[in-house]
This record gives sequence, structure tokens and C-alpha cells, in this order.
Amino acid sequence: MRLKAITLRDYRNYSEAYIEPCEGVTVFMGDNAQGKTNILEAVYLCCTGRSHRTSRDRELIRMGQDTAYVKATGVRADGTHEVEIALNQAGKRRIKVNGSPVGRSGELLGHITGVLFSPEDLRMVKDGPAVRRRFIDMELSQLRPAYYYALQRYNRALKQRNALLKDCALNDASVETLDLWDSELALSGSEIIHSRKAFCERLNECARKIHSSITNGAETLEIKYEPNVAPGESTTETAECIKSALISSRESDLRRAATGKGAHHDDMGIYIGDMDARLYGSQGQVRTCALSLKLSEIEIISAESGEAPVLMLDDVMSELDPERRRQLIKRLEGVQTLVTCTDKNDLAGAGIGKLMKVEKATLSEEA
Ligand SMILES: Nc1ncnc2c1ncn2[C@@H]1O[C@H](COP(=O)(O)OP(=O)(O)OP(=O)(O)O)[C@@H](O)[C@H]1O
Ligand SMILES: [Mg+2]
Repeated sequence: MRLKAITLRDYRNYSEAYIEPCEGVTVFMGDNAQGKTNILEAVYLCCTGRSHRTSRDRELIRMGQDTAYVKATGVRADGTHEVEIALNQAGKRRIKVNGSPVGRSGELLGHITGVLFSPEDLRMVKDGPAVRRRFIDMELSQLRPAYYYALQRYNRALKQRNALLKDCALNDASVETLDLWDSELALSGSEIIHSRKAFCERLNECARKIHSSITNGAETLEIKYEPNVAPGESTTETAECIKSALISSRESDLRRAATGKGAHHDDMGIYIGDMDARLYGSQGQVRTCALSLKLSEIEIISAESGEAPVLMLDDVMSELDPERRRQLIKRLEGVQTLVTCTDKNDLAGAGIGKLMKVEKATLSEEA
């Protein structure tokens, strides 16, 4: 996919902006707090329906304004794709895809595809499981809207079940109603688990090759799906596994007013040889792992959708040592890339196609 244009209106610190990225590397350069990340965030929002920094839409609306608007236009083999999102202070979203309003936010997925790499991603290996689940979830959602919907159903059911657990303790609410939520968690959970399993296998193949190449064959990376509830052969079997796990943990769930079993406790194991990189990886090693995982994301989206996603690098160059930086730059060829930086020297060798200066939410092109 080729990202042609981005329009922002009252988004974060921008009152108005229009950007036409080039085919290769477009750089957004400027001092801190000028609005560089905000641009990438807006593109990411059009890719995934979510900001990578907040789940509160209100933060995205320019202070003092009622509505924020972003539009991303991309060209794929089958023509132009356009995603528009308007957010207002009341928490209402209006989304249009190719000019037509859509009812569900999942419908924007798969039109503008992107991979965002930020300094937080470099910590993905050492952070808690939630960060790694999010990595899987965001990737799978872009590839398969059905996954996104399953996740939505799962999270809703989980919230309801937890509320009911609390209610059972306080008000003696009927424990039987829990069955209803157990069933929904089993149904959507089994879909999630099977997709995650297949994805991690794919990721393992891909990331292993990249990691080996980055480390010149010195390290063998292994990615392992670590589900909280072991799946069966089929989704039907897995649904049964989840149900029995929920039933056996019901008593302790009631005591803690929280659901102790299920896909929301999954993790993704990251190993270098036999060593668990999450626990024992050195800073350099975990960065290389993160880089391999991110680069795999591009490859998997490219293979599955037939087109490379737009790659967004938010300040990562400055966090990588020269060798890893070189490895990353080497792989940018043929991938449309948006990069932010404060210092152009961080991008030495990257072949900058377009350089935009960002100053107090105003963009100007530099020669
Ligand atoms: N809702 C909002 N309304 C107005 N301004 C906002 C809003 N949200 C964030 N900002 C402003 O946007 C700026 C931050 O933008 P951004 O995160 O893009 O900075 P940056 O250029 O990436 O900086 P850094 O180099 O530090 O990462 C800050 O000045 C912040 O006050
Ligand atoms: Mg930034």
C-alpha cells in the first residue's frame, strides 16, 4: 500500500495539516513537543482505529475544540482507499471508509495498513505480558477484522463477568448467570486462541530468519505462544477447555472478583536459544528481538495482504546502536516509511526522500 495523503483537523496540537508523504522515506524532524509523533499517531489511528498512546479519544481532540478529524488516503493494487475518522468530546466517533459512513469501527481495518515502531516497542520483551498480547492483537486485527470482533466480544464478556462476580459477593446476585458469560468467553476465546497460535507459529518462522540475519547467525530466536488455557485440536474443543477452566476457577474468581483463567492471561514466549529473553536478555539482545519482531510484522502483513504496510518509526533510530540502525535501514528498501527524529544525523544512510520540519504544529518542507 502506498500512503498518498494525511489530513488532520483539530487533532492534538494541529489545527490543520495536510501531508503528502513520498514513496520512500519521509522524515518529520523537529524539537521535542512540536507534533512529530502526533502525525504518526494519526496515521496509526486510521490503520487500527486506536491510538498507540491512549484509549481516551478526548486526548486526541485539540484543546478547546469539539471535534478532531483525520483522513488517510492510500493506494492499493485495487485502487484508492480512504479512511476518515471524526471524534468528538461526547465520545462519539464517526467513521467513513471510501466516503461511506460505517457503523462498526472494525470496518476501517485493512484499508490503510501500517506498522508503528516506537521506543516502547523496544521494551516489549521485558515488559509484562499485556504488551506482548497487544502486539499480537494489533497485528491480527489489521489482518483479520473477524479477530478484532472476537476480541471485542471477549473483552465485553470479561467486563460483564467481572462485574457480576463483584455483584455476587455484594448482593448475592445469581451465580448461574455466570454461565452465560462463561459461554461467551469460551466462544470468542477459542477463536482468539486459535488465531494467536497460528500467528505465533508464523511469527516464529519469520522472526527467526530475520534475527539470525541481524546477529550474523550468532543467535537463534524462538517465539512460543503461551496460552493460559491449553487449546484443543479444534475451536469447539478449545471452547470446552475454556469452559471447564472457568468452572474450576469459579470459586476463587468469586473470592477475588476477577476472572483468573482465559485468553486475557496469555503470553508470548521469547527465547534466545534456551534462554528466556524476557527474564535474562541483555539490553542489546532484547532490542534485537524487538527489532526482529517488528520487521516480521511488516513481512507478515505484506505476505497476507499482498502489499507492504507503511512503516512508522517514532524516534527509534536514536535508541538503536549504529549496527542495529544499519540493519534496520537495510530493510527499509521498498517499504514506504515515515520517520520522526530530532537530529538528522540519526538517519545517516537512510536515503531521505522528503524532509519535513515540524515546529509548533506547522510543517514546512526542507530541501
Ligand atoms: N489534545 C491536545 N491539544 C493540544 N495540544 C496537544 C494535545 N495533545 C498533545 N498536545 C501537544 O502536542 C505536543 C506533543 O506532540 P508530539 O507528541 O507529537 O511531540 P513530538 O514532536 O513527537 O515530541 P518528542 O520529540 O518529545 O517526542 C505537546 O506540545 C502537547 O502539549
Ligand atoms: Mg515524539
